[in-house]
Amino acid sequence: MMSRVKADIAAVKERDPACLSSWSALTNYPGLWAIWWHRITHRLHRSGRTWLARYISQRVRRRTGIEIHPGAVIGERFFIDHGMGVVIGETSIIGDDVTLYQGVTLGGTGKEHGKRHPTVEDFAVVGVGATVLGDITVGRGSRVGAGAVVIADVPENCTVVGIPGRVVVREGRRVDAVDLHHEDLPDPIVEMYRSVNRRVDRLEARLARDEDAVAEAGAVPLGKEDGAREDDDVDPGL
Ligand SMILES: CC(C)(COP(=O)(O)OP(=O)(O)OC[C@H]1O[C@@H](n2cnc3c(N)ncnc32)[C@H](O)[C@@H]1OP(=O)(O)O)[C@@H](O)C(=O)NCCC(=O)NCCS
Repeated sequence: MMSRVKADIAAVKERDPACLSSWSALTNYPGLWAIWWHRITHRLHRSGRTWLARYISQRVRRRTGIEIHPGAVIGERFFIDHGMGVVIGETSIIGDDVTLYQGVTLGGTGKEHGKRHPTVEDFAVVGVGATVLGDITVGRGSRVGAGAVVIADVPENCTVVGIPGRVVVREGRRVDAVDLHHEDLPDPIVEMYRSVNRRVDRLEARLARDEDAVAEAGAVPLGKEDGAREDDDVDPGL
């Protein structure tokens, strides 16, 4: 028990350069209080005393601004920095050494039943104001950028940013937007450009075929028919 508490305090000092002492961690970090209370409410929840567990967790929320459902499963050295506005849903699973900042939601989409909240694997970091929704997994060592909305799995050791979240860094290397691996999160803008490019290619090929056919038939090419303006082909530089 004491060794766990010491490890929690050490995690705060290690991950927040503004924390200069164990005393400061103990007294100034509501994230720690929320986690310690969660260990108690989780035990109550598992023993069937769900109302009491929920009641305590709501009181903790009022004191810390951090709402952790008693059913959530949380690993060691979890660190919630600042805390205000954090919501962790009932079926969330959080690994070891995970960090969350203020305003993070690990929530449900409202469309799923049973396991309906995210799994966040060891060493992942979820930035301020990020929203992670549904029974998806944020892979080990991955980072969710501030303000992102993530609705699909994030592979290990990736950085995901934006709305909807898209992978921009994988295993320490930038991901070229036009060279996405299929397992990456889809980027709707890139998809739209690809689709337009495919259509332009098809139209150009068709135009070339039509021009060849016209030339073979000895017909007047488009733009040279009667009534076409004389100056259509005139080089304005002449
Ligand atoms: C995402 C983050 C973890 C950086 O991860 P990283 O792997 O080092 O990524 P990079 O900084 O190399 O950025 C990669 C790309 O994503 C962009 N990016 C980074 N963070 C972003 C964000 N939150 N939203 C949108 N785009 C972001 C960068 O501009 C860069 O784009 P580019 O390739 O067009 O230049 C960091 O920017 C972040 O958001 N951290 C959250 C920290 C936090 O919440 N702090 C609160 C303290 S109170």
